[in-house]
Amino acid sequence: MPRRDKPDHYAQRAKKDGYKARSVYKLQEIDDKLHVLSGARRVLDVGAAPGSWTQYALERMSRGGTVVAVDLKPVELPPSDSLRTIEGDVTDEEVRSELRELGPFDLILSDAAPSTSGNRTLDSARSAELVEIVLGLADELLAPGGHMVAKLFQGGDEKSLLEAARARFRSARIQRPKASRRDSFEVFIVGVDHRPATPSAPAEGEGPP
Ligand SMILES: C[S@@+](CC[C@H](N)C(=O)[O-])C[C@H]1O[C@@H](n2cnc3c(N)ncnc32)[C@H](O)[C@@H]1O
Repeated sequence: MPRRDKPDHYAQRAKKDGYKARSVYKLQEIDDKLHVLSGARRVLDVGAAPGSWTQYALERMSRGGTVVAVDLKPVELPPSDSLRTIEGDVTDEEVRSELRELGPFDLILSDAAPSTSGNRTLDSARSAELVEIVLGLADELLAPGGHMVAKLFQGGDEKSLLEAARARFRSARIQRPKASRRDSFEVFIVGVDHRPATPSAPAEGEGPP
């Protein structure tokens, strides 16, 4: 297994390029392929600390774009008019109501990850819960046509979560960037072009007389 205390190529590159974390290159790969940031002006970054995805989004967005960055921990970036940081739990109702006031968004990013226990089944289940929360945020806060990138630890639920994403987006797929560590079981669900929920067709016998 590769040693994680030794900075790898991506960690060294992040330091040189001035990014807070090596994770930035995962988002860059996804964006190079699927252009999720192109045209985005309002971005919500969930699980944003220390801040490399937020840095990348701010750089890629056209002038006047803003990022709202939420994390349990402080986001380590200097204050700016383009950045709003919220230190809190995205599952918390107070945080959700703040996000509702700040939305809608053109793009929701989530690199959020539970603290790992070493029990893969448990860690994957917690990660899947975070993805469900992000899908809920997409329904509530994404502007029509908006996109979503959400990290998921593989381990059982990826098929049903991908289906849930496909029900909400014109297209949804799983991406595994090269920058993910070789021993990592993370993937990213990318949803492109959010469609507002259509009311389900009435069940037989429930329609108007
Ligand atoms: C891999 S780090 C994100 C790295 C970040 N994308 C970057 O590029 O700097 C995962 C983050 O998810 C956050 N997180 C996990 N659960 C969360 C929750 N319920 N609400 C907010 N943040 C959460 C953790 O605190 C952690 O900072």
